[in-house]
Amino acid sequence: MTGSPEGVPSGVSAGGVDPTDADAVESAAGAALDALAAAADLDALTAVVRAHTGDRSPLALANRAIGQLPGPSKAEAGKRVGGARRRVGVAAAERRAVLEAERDAAVLVTEALDLTQPTARRPRGARHPLGLLVEEVEDFFSGLGWGVLEGPEVEAEWFNFDALNFGPDHPARQMQDTFVVDPPQDGLVLRTHTSPAQARALLEHGAPLYVAVPGKVFRTDELDATHTPVFTQVEGLAVDEHLTMAHLRGVLDALAVAMFGAGTTTRLRPNFFPFTEPSAEMDVRCPVCAGTGLAPGEQAASGPATAVQDAVGTQVVAAAGEAAGAPCRTCGSTGWIEWGGCGMVNPHVLRAVGVDPERYTGFAFGMGIERTLMFRNGVGDMRDMVEGDPRFSRQFGAGV
Ligand code: DAH
Repeated sequence: MTGSPEGVPSGVSAGGVDPTDADAVESAAGAALDALAAAADLDALTAVVRAHTGDRSPLALANRAIGQLPGPSKAEAGKRVGGARRRVGVAAAERRAVLEAERDAAVLVTEALDLTQPTARRPRGARHPLGLLVEEVEDFFSGLGWGVLEGPEVEAEWFNFDALNFGPDHPARQMQDTFVVDPPQDGLVLRTHTSPAQARALLEHGAPLYVAVPGKVFRTDELDATHTPVFTQVEGLAVDEHLTMAHLRGVLDALAVAMFGAGTTTRLRPNFFPFTEPSAEMDVRCPVCAGTGLAPGEQAASGPATAVQDAVGTQVVAAAGEAAGAPCRTCGSTGWIEWGGCGMVNPHVLRAVGVDPERYTGFAFGMGIERTLMFRNGVGDMRDMVEGDPRFSRQFGAGV
C-alpha cells in the first residue's frame, strides 16, 4: 500500500487489479463510483478523481497491464477495463456538474446584494433654522388673523423706493447698497427690504388690511460675522380706521414674547424712515442677559439677579450701566438689542397706492430674521447661517 494514491479504498492495492479479472475490475470501478458519489464538494471530488482515474489509480494500472497480456485475452481485457474507465469518467463529469451547480447556487445566496437596502452612510439633513423661524413668525401672525403674503425678490425700483417715499437722491438708492438688475434703465433691483410689499399689498387688496410678508432681501454687503448680502426680513403692515402707535406697540410686544419668551419687552426710539411718520427704531430686551447687561453666569454672582431681571425700561439700563462683572457680549452691556424699524405709514405712501389717508391710518414694521435667530439662539456668526452645513441646522431639531 505504500505510495497508494489518496482515496484508494483498502483492498484494492495500486497495481493489484488484474485486467483479466472481471470481478476485480468491477470492484475497482464500483469503488470509484462510490467515492465519486460520496464526494461532498469540488475539492473532495478532485481528490477522488485523482485517486481513481489518475496515472497510479487501480484502473489506470490495470489498463497499463493490458499491454503485457497475450494476444487473445488482450482485446477482452481492453474492452473490460476501457468500459470501466469510461463509466468512472462519465460519473466524475456528472458529479462535477452537480457540485458546480451547488456551489454556484450557494454563492448566489452568500454573496447576494440587497440593492433595496437603505444605506446608513448618507448624512441626514435638517430643515434650516431660518425657514423654521419664518414659519414660527407666520404662525404668530396667522394667529392674530393677519394674512401672510410674499412679494417678488426682483422688484421694480418704483416699489422698492418711489412708492415708499424715498426721494430721487436718497442715499439708499445708490449702487453701493442696491443690486441693480442689468440693464439699469429697466428699473429693476433686487429688493433691499420687504417694505415694497406694503405698496403691493395695498394696491392689490386695498384697506383695511393686515398682512405679514416674510422674504429674502439683498444688499451689497460683504459676508462677515454680522453681515450677509442675502438675508431675511419680515414686514408687518396694518391699515385700518383709527389705528394708532399703541396698536403698533401691542403687536410688537406680542411678537417679542412669541419670539423670545414670556416677560420680553420692547422699546421704541425715534428714528427716520421715508415711508413712516413718525418712525421708530425698535429694541427688544436682551434675551441673553435679560436686560441686566451682564454675561450669563455673572448675574448670580453679582447679587439679587431676580430683582434686576424684574426691572423694566430705564431701570434695567441703569442696572446694566452699573454692572461690574463681565459685560453681556450679546447686547454690548446695554440690556437692549436693535430688532427692527417701525412707524405709522406715511400718508404719501397711502396716497401713492390709492388709499385715503384722511380715512385710514396704518402702522408698519420690519425686522431681520437672522438677527432674531442670533439673539434668540446665541448664534454668534452669521456665516454659520449661510454655509448650509447640516451639523449647524441639526442643532435646532426638526430633522427631515
Ligand atoms: N425696511 C426697513 C429696513 O429694511 C425696516 C423698516 C422700517 C420697515 C420701518 C418698516 C418700517 O415697515 O415701518 O431697514
